[in-house]
Amino acid sequence: MSGVTPPVPPRHRGEIPVTDLLAKASRSLLEVWGEEMFRNSGTTLEVLGQRLIVFNRPAAVESVLVAQAEVFTTKPAQLSRLLAPLLGSGLFVAEGRAWRGRRDAVAAAMAAALEGVGEGTGTDWVARPEGATLDVIAEMERLSATLLLRLIFGAAGGDATEIVRLARAYRGKISGAGLITLMALPEPLVRLRLGGDAKRIRALVEALLARARRARTGLAAGLPAELARDEAISLFAIGHDALSGLLAAAWFLLGQAPEVEAALHAELDSGAGEGPLLQAVLREALRLYPPLPLIARVAGRATEVAGLPVPKGSIGFVAPWLLHRHADHWEAPDEFRPARFLPDAPPPRPFSYLPFGLGPRQCVGEAVTMRVATLALAGLARRFRLRPLPGPPVVPRAGLTLSLAERLPMRLERR
Ligand code: HEM
Repeated sequence: MSGVTPPVPPRHRGEIPVTDLLAKASRSLLEVWGEEMFRNSGTTLEVLGQRLIVFNRPAAVESVLVAQAEVFTTKPAQLSRLLAPLLGSGLFVAEGRAWRGRRDAVAAAMAAALEGVGEGTGTDWVARPEGATLDVIAEMERLSATLLLRLIFGAAGGDATEIVRLARAYRGKISGAGLITLMALPEPLVRLRLGGDAKRIRALVEALLARARRARTGLAAGLPAELARDEAISLFAIGHDALSGLLAAAWFLLGQAPEVEAALHAELDSGAGEGPLLQAVLREALRLYPPLPLIARVAGRATEVAGLPVPKGSIGFVAPWLLHRHADHWEAPDEFRPARFLPDAPPPRPFSYLPFGLGPRQCVGEAVTMRVATLALAGLARRFRLRPLPGPPVVPRAGLTLSLAERLPMRLERR
């Protein structure tokens, strides 16, 4: 079912000079991968005196993220520096014992919040005329922000417009050429560049948190007071981009594949609830467009990974983007084929499919994400379909997170 292969970013062949690699990275981190990376077991390179190792084999992925997680425990300083102005000491950037305490508290609050996640599409599509043009990227950003604000702050969540605008501005600065420049800058300059936007987002979240705590509503109100602020910001900042990316990818792919869309509508109309095909569409969207396409760790000591010696201080990468489109693990890797995730299909090869990461730092929001995304997509797809409109090819790009397009106009139709 499907047979649709959406456009992929350009892939070079063979080795290219580091300067070309940096130029590609400043356009999109998805362009740095040569054709052979979608077939090989990994690579090692030295960039500006720093050893970088891409682990591209399931055994190595397991070793770095799971078996030797205590060796590969920290994230690269260049990454933490970009996120710290916004996230403070929140879970995503926390380390060591501080991380453990935060992880336990957030995981418990998340499990409690999962029970309260209900239907709620949070769009105004009902009020839009038949045939209206919607920008799916903007629509899903607003929807994801509304749903996450509701999750984190409960009834105090309120309107998402301002926070979406601010989050977009922050993301704009840490992607493309900005990302590469910022990574090379010392911390005070990074703070200077990002501090203003971060401060505005933090102020907004603090006001929401104060309201939520007074009303005892939402996930953050259940967290210990000393953790709540940084965790509320972290959950929103990490979750918002990823959730909206997943939902936009699902609409885009369904619009390309009328056969899959018809089967999904049949499933939704059969009263079977949010059935296996809806789950498969979401899983396939996460495979083709993993919202966090690159996971990075620093080797805390010299070690060996799947037979390869790894010196202390090396930066190790595990790239869902590569593993999810690797010729060894997937038939027709670039094709949208949700049937591969239906219950009667063989499960993906272990450690080749990891949209939510793996090991102790695996996404703490995974269950909530799948629940929220399922309800949102089912709620909308029961009543509406989105048809593609003519326009430039949709080629994903990535900074720290993947983005399908800046804008993606589609036509709204009632079913
Ligand atoms: C499609 C949606 C999502 C995807 C694909 C995703 C993916 C990931 C991945 C790959 C990691 C691991 C990063 C690493 O190992 O370095 C991660 C961690 C994390 N995610 Fe998600 N995420 C999603 C949604 C969310 C949501 C909705 C939330 C919050 C409500 C969230 C909160 C977090 C947090 C706090 C961490 C850090 C966990 C830790 O370090 O212990 N994520 N996510």
